[in-house]
Amino acid sequence: MEASATGKRPLDGQVALVSGGLGDIGRATARALHEAGARVAISDLAMVKAARALSPEFHYTRVDVSDAATVRAWLDRVERDLGTPSLVVCNAGLVVPMGALDTTEEVWERTLAVNLTGAFLLAQQAAQRMVRRRLQGRMVFVGSWAGHVPHAQITAYSVAKAGLRMAMKCLAVELAPAGVLVNEIAPGIVDAGLSGKLMARRRGLREKTRRKVPVQRLLEAGDVARGVVSLCQPENRHMTGSVLLMDGGLSLKGPI
Ligand SMILES: NC(=O)c1ccc[n+]([C@@H]2O[C@H](COP(=O)([O-])OP(=O)(O)OC[C@H]3O[C@@H](n4cnc5c(N)ncnc54)[C@H](O)[C@@H]3O)[C@@H](O)[C@H]2O)c1
Repeated sequence: MEASATGKRPLDGQVALVSGGLGDIGRATARALHEAGARVAISDLAMVKAARALSPEFHYTRVDVSDAATVRAWLDRVERDLGTPSLVVCNAGLVVPMGALDTTEEVWERTLAVNLTGAFLLAQQAAQRMVRRRLQGRMVFVGSWAGHVPHAQITAYSVAKAGLRMAMKCLAVELAPAGVLVNEIAPGIVDAGLSGKLMARRRGLREKTRRKVPVQRLLEAGDVARGVVSLCQPENRHMTGSVLLMDGGLSLKGPI
């Protein structure tokens, strides 16, 4: 991110939170926010030592986003160490590929707990603090094209991402008068992270998938990160409750 002629960067002075910040999209997003001037705090499931090895440059806390008490403790710690966050990226996620008929109760519950409840808990608690301190912040939910195009093998994930979209819109309505803008980025298939791991399981799958994307390329984690930063820009004063769909045209065709 370019600094202006005065050396000022667009997110200077702001504190940003990224959940799932040790994952591929999370790390790329944390780096992009940092380059744009924000002080960045990340959280994830790894122990502190492992996290420092992976990503030493960021304030790190071990947090399971599905647990409200640990999310609250994370925000308390960040507020004490860096200041009240005005930028929040609800990014932590998981997917367990499983057909609807085979989906166990445990997979269903965990998938919703992390992707949906976890994102909501973080957004809710961060919003309470922003409103209390009259910060005109920005929130970005990392959703997915799977939130609106039904897929056979990832029912629980798709349902969680569809719910995430409605949570985003409800928060956007409620927070608009306070000047907090809430949006979603909906990536298609990224050559990293959750789908990167799935594509690596079978030889040739990555290439086959790439050819199915209308623009004939897979997304990179950095593409998603740039999209998140664009939604965090202070000059964005009107876009709220929107979905930044970044899927190379996949949704135009239906499931792959
Ligand atoms: N990779 C893709 O193709 C793709 C496409 C669309 C959307 N997304 C979304 O992007 C986001 C990031 O995923 P990614 O692809 O970088 O995968 P990733 O596996 O690299 O990152 C996800 C991170 O979330 C963390 N996490 C999982 N459960 C958690 C919990 N309970 N509490 C805290 N952290 C937890 C994981 O440890 C991991 O570091 C997810 O929300 C995912 O749904 C990914």
